[in-house]
Amino acid sequence: MILITGGLGFIGSHFAAEACKDSPLVIVDNLSNTTLNIYHKLLRIRKKNYIFFHNTDIHNYAEMEKIIQFYKINSVIHFAGLKSVGESVSSPAKYYYNNVIGSKSLFDLIKINNIQNLIFSSSATVYGKPQKLPLDESHPIRATNPYGQNKIDIENLLINDSYLKNNCSVKILRYFNPIGAHPSGVIGESPKGIPNNLMPYILKVAQRVYQKVSVFGNDYDTHDGTGVRDYIHIMDLVAGHIKALNYQKKGVSIFNLGTGQGYSVLDLIKTFERVNHISVPFELVNRRPGDVAAVYANPFKAESVLDFKAKRTLEDMCRDAWIFAKDNS
Ligand code: WQD
Repeated sequence: MILITGGLGFIGSHFAAEACKDSPLVIVDNLSNTTLNIYHKLLRIRKKNYIFFHNTDIHNYAEMEKIIQFYKINSVIHFAGLKSVGESVSSPAKYYYNNVIGSKSLFDLIKINNIQNLIFSSSATVYGKPQKLPLDESHPIRATNPYGQNKIDIENLLINDSYLKNNCSVKILRYFNPIGAHPSGVIGESPKGIPNNLMPYILKVAQRVYQKVSVFGNDYDTHDGTGVRDYIHIMDLVAGHIKALNYQKKGVSIFNLGTGQGYSVLDLIKTFERVNHISVPFELVNRRPGDVAAVYANPFKAESVLDFKAKRTLEDMCRDAWIFAKDNS
């Protein structure tokens, strides 16, 4: 049985919607950044599959132990964690406790229960300011914010654990910028509060909740001066997880999950407008502190080792994101 921590979040729920087709799943989520409605939606999309849910926090060792033993968990996909860069700067202790201490508690249970398959949801943020592009897995690691440092600390818990290295197939997946939504249009990205990230903010402007997108800086050394990122369709990201789940090599393996193609803020806004025939007003404003000009992946290692290659286009990402958002404002 597969256990998914944070399984009602954006990435966790999309993974659950696909992985449940091949195996029954147990989702644990403390509902700090999502709602129980996502679970009901998953049951609607996959009514014939087994998806169990427990409103549990990964810090709750006793409860997590009961779940792992009751369901005879043999694989863990660890998505649970706070993920706002800005919030991590204002609340570093909260982020360290929630993300790093919570992960350590989970990893202790994985070892004691001899679980031999683990995927950890990491981030390209661990690379900090790129020294060389495209970014490959050997690029130096250097956090530029507490959230990125949390991901590095958790990666090190895995990399430095001799038990896990010898007895468990550990896959650390470093995501670039996942956007889009499930093709059913039933689930998608719906963060609580004012979105920090670009695509959820574009969606709010398209829904006419907000008037315009603030474009953070147009004086970067990029083709149009605005920030360039490697956007990957959430369903491609999920496909990469399924490939990683089936990759059984013991020891710790690290993979970038990106497309290798960078697009600017204006590229994304213009593509969204063109594909969805809807205007997205924007205003050029100052840079956001901590942002870098360009971040995009060298996706070759995942392609050659996991046989994973992202195939959906930026148009697909914009179209699917809007199909979900226009009916879920
Ligand atoms: C993308 C581009 C902004 C909002 C973050 C996290 C990273 C990962 C993905 C978790 C940048 C610009 C944004 C807006 C804008 N999350 N922008 N106006 O910063 O690349 O990565 O999300 O793992 O850890 O750091 O994503 O979507 O915030 O920004 O102009 O209202 O859009 O400057 O160039 P980012 P983002």
